[in-house]
Amino acid sequence: MRRPRRNRASAAIRDLAEETTLTTNDFIFPLFLIEGIHRKSEPASMPGIFRLSEDLILKEIEACLKLGIKGFAIFPVVAAAYKDKYASESYDPEFFYLKSLKRIKKEFPEALVITDTAMDPYSSDGHDGIVEGGKILNDETLNILGQMALAQAGTGVDMIGPSDMMDFRVGYIRNILDENGFSDTGIMSYTAKYASAFYGPFREALDSIPKFGDKKTYQMNPANSDEAMLEAELDFNEGADVLMVKPALAYLDIIQRLKGAFNIPVAAYNVSGEYSMIKAAGEKGWLDSEKTMMESLLSIKRSGADMIFTYFAKEAAQLLKNQ
Ligand code: PBG
Repeated sequence: MRRPRRNRASAAIRDLAEETTLTTNDFIFPLFLIEGIHRKSEPASMPGIFRLSEDLILKEIEACLKLGIKGFAIFPVVAAAYKDKYASESYDPEFFYLKSLKRIKKEFPEALVITDTAMDPYSSDGHDGIVEGGKILNDETLNILGQMALAQAGTGVDMIGPSDMMDFRVGYIRNILDENGFSDTGIMSYTAKYASAFYGPFREALDSIPKFGDKKTYQMNPANSDEAMLEAELDFNEGADVLMVKPALAYLDIIQRLKGAFNIPVAAYNVSGEYSMIKAAGEKGWLDSEKTMMESLLSIKRSGADMIFTYFAKEAAQLLKNQ
């Protein structure tokens, strides 16, 4: 008689029969950078995560590299005074984000650094594109993104991260990078990014809540799956190096479909709200937050993700190291 329980009978057979193994190699740690020195603040909805100034982010990256984390996605916290309609600060070479990226790559050339290439952190409208008459413009925003991508690539980062979920981003940025001698700079494409309520804590951390409306005319409808395949096909053909699905846990089916259909790596972004839910339930004593964290990360990997952006990266790497 076939009895599947025989393969679960001891720790040894469970380990041997294990189909998916989570390792620290899978993690990309998103970090929030603020201007200044010796500055550290904790977003209220993301306990354990900090906005860090350059000196402290360098220390954090060093500690993470020692734990075996290799990838970092760096997001700028931009003060309101720097924001305008056209995200002009985003490509000013004197802007602190660009200067810090350069410093990070200089100190840690072995770290894989990914940028955020979108207008919203710098936009006084809190949107990812130029806003006119309540509309978010697609093509008119390309020039700004091109300048932003070039300025970021010039700092020596490894990958540009177009995250605005509008049309022709990857192709436009690939061309402009190639034309300017940055053919080795990769593109981490936010391919299937959904209009999700799970981004709430991130927007609080960055103070980037849209000033009006929502992001439904550019981010995807959570009801759709075929549309993610179309987005992936376009990004693949435009030259993306990695296709990302975001959020992760509510979209494991999308990760699985992309992984099955494209022969380039698929990334999953385990977003801020997914982090906060586990942390909050853990603080209340309603869930074991360590176990739910590891189970979530493992499940994201099982669904087909080759790499996972996660605020749990450091905590999970510490656990994996002590195992
Ligand atoms: C915006 C951006 C967002 C996130 C990453 N880049 C938020 C948004 O689209 O409003 C969310 C990440 C998270 O929730 O952890 N370009």
